Amino acid sequence: MRDLTSDTITEAVISTMRGTLDPRVAEILESLVRHLHAFVRDVHLTEEEWARGVDLLTRTGQMCTPTRQEFILLSDVLGVTMLVDALSNRRPAKATQNSVLGPFFREDRPQYADATDISGGLPGDPLFFEGRVVDRDGAPVAGAAVDVWHSDADGHYDVDVPGQVGPAMRALFRTDETGHFAFRSIRPSSYPIPGDGPVGELMTATSRSLMRPAHVHLLIDIPGFQRVTTMLFPSDDPYLDADPVFGVKESLIEPFDVYAADDGPCRGLTAVPYAVLRRTFVLEPSPAG
Ligand SMILES: [Fe+2]
Repeated sequence: MRDLTSDTITEAVISTMRGTLDPRVAEILESLVRHLHAFVRDVHLTEEEWARGVDLLTRTGQMCTPTRQEFILLSDVLGVTMLVDALSNRRPAKATQNSVLGPFFREDRPQYADATDISGGLPGDPLFFEGRVVDRDGAPVAGAAVDVWHSDADGHYDVDVPGQVGPAMRALFRTDETGHFAFRSIRPSSYPIPGDGPVGELMTATSRSLMRPAHVHLLIDIPGFQRVTTMLFPSDDPYLDADPVFGVKESLIEPFDVYAADDGPCRGLTAVPYAVLRRTFVLEPSPAG
């Protein structure tokens, strides 16, 4: 293995990994090396460009903290997160589709009774959400854990709301025997992904917008069914076709029906106009179930 050239180095590198014990790791590494080398040849990567790439990845790692995951964000804006999801979670069109989990899910969230106000008293337009979880035959799924989390009217999650102490706009619910769960909150707003790191530089360099369309995150989990990690987008959001993390699916867009305070299904519950979002989630059985 001497005097390697641009024509022979790829096979030479792969040959050094022949002793890889795990066959799946061997498969992934060989493909990674082949594609990486092909990419370098394809664009004729210069030494300066290579150094810039190394610097970008270095700073991406340095930007990461327990509450900031710049590498996942990089994966998101390059479409890798949604590609992995698409390959891993092929579901019939009738079943509720996945979207990105995002960085704001928290394990330490309160569990609330049905119809609780989870807004934490934060200002915003009232939103009433009524959900139903069913199986592929339409039968109710009782006892499903439903996590909900979303941003406030300024696009901040509770951890980023100035002065906010403790959880807000996030909760865990359990579906009742009819598959129903409901909560009250405030309407989330569209918001920018973090632009102050290497990913932000990438977005600026490629003239891409940082703005995600508004959404409500949901995670539905119950043994026997595939876990659904998803989000719902209001149909009137201006950023639906420019989501920087590619998470929007037509089937996840829903109208937020707006009513006057004295009209509609929740009349009398607010003094101001409010929105109602209703959604049925269809679960697929897990492969083992
Ligand atoms: Fe989000």
